[in-house]
Amino acid sequence: MQHILTASQFDRSSVEEIFKLADTLEGKRNESLKGKILATLFYEPSTRTRLSFESAMYRLGGEVISSENARDNSSAIKGETLEDTVRIVDDYADVIALRHPEAGAATRAAGVSAVPILNAGDGGEHPTQALLDLYTIRRELGKADDFHITFVGNLAYYRTARSLALLLGRYQGVTMSFVSAPELKMNEGTKRALQEARVAIDETEDIESAMKAADVVYQTRIAKEWIPDQAVYEKLKTKYAMTREMVDTMKKGAILMHPLPRVGEISPDVDSSPHAVYFKQAAYGVTVRMALLTMLIG
Ligand code: NCD
Repeated sequence: MQHILTASQFDRSSVEEIFKLADTLEGKRNESLKGKILATLFYEPSTRTRLSFESAMYRLGGEVISSENARDNSSAIKGETLEDTVRIVDDYADVIALRHPEAGAATRAAGVSAVPILNAGDGGEHPTQALLDLYTIRRELGKADDFHITFVGNLAYYRTARSLALLLGRYQGVTMSFVSAPELKMNEGTKRALQEARVAIDETEDIESAMKAADVVYQTRIAKEWIPDQAVYEKLKTKYAMTREMVDTMKKGAILMHPLPRVGEISPDVDSSPHAVYFKQAAYGVTVRMALLTMLIG
């Protein structure tokens, strides 16, 4: 494994290897990355992804340098290209976690970088989130095959849903429902990839039935900054918001996930529901990123 750029680069056995390592690292600290430096180069806002990468690095004995607002505070504001910035930062660090708004940015960075690039969310994908999402499913549902997942809300402009769907295409017997308004449907490219992987998918606007049928419900953010047409955002921002009453109709043992941040898509009184696992999901981010850093530069 040289770079982590897309969820499609993983097969089942590489995922299992990452998860096995993650299981051994949970809640622990070691010195295996002592003397190594992680650079977090973030051209878009982040709380969980950046801080969990940084926490993971410190827990492995490594150190961190960070440009947390690289869009405004790095030389990007002076007009430096991403490629030039990466060519510089790769001399300062042993691994780079990059967040960038453009699709393909992580692949461009990998093309010039002398050190591993971790795609921490670009305009296309968010593969490390997909891994921690699947890790959450494996831990909280107890299996990663033979289940039904319902993705809800903003499926058109949402990298985590896209990457998780692609990753799940590697597993057996996963069926998917996509619940969204017509303006926010899952893109054709992702659906085609899923069909090629023989995943059974259905698209619906009927959230009630899709929630009742699911083993996993994956809620998303109606992201104001990613939806190009603000009229669409205004019209749909609360359309699939989940109340406690809706969540109470989920099957026994089913789990409700959200990569977070939420901005009203899940009412706070859902937090105490046994179905709600989104805070645990965020916590697993540290464990899974510890495993990824160990495998890349350990
Ligand atoms: C997501 C992202 O940035 O893609 N958050 C995350 O990484 N946990 C989702 C979002 O911002 O809504």
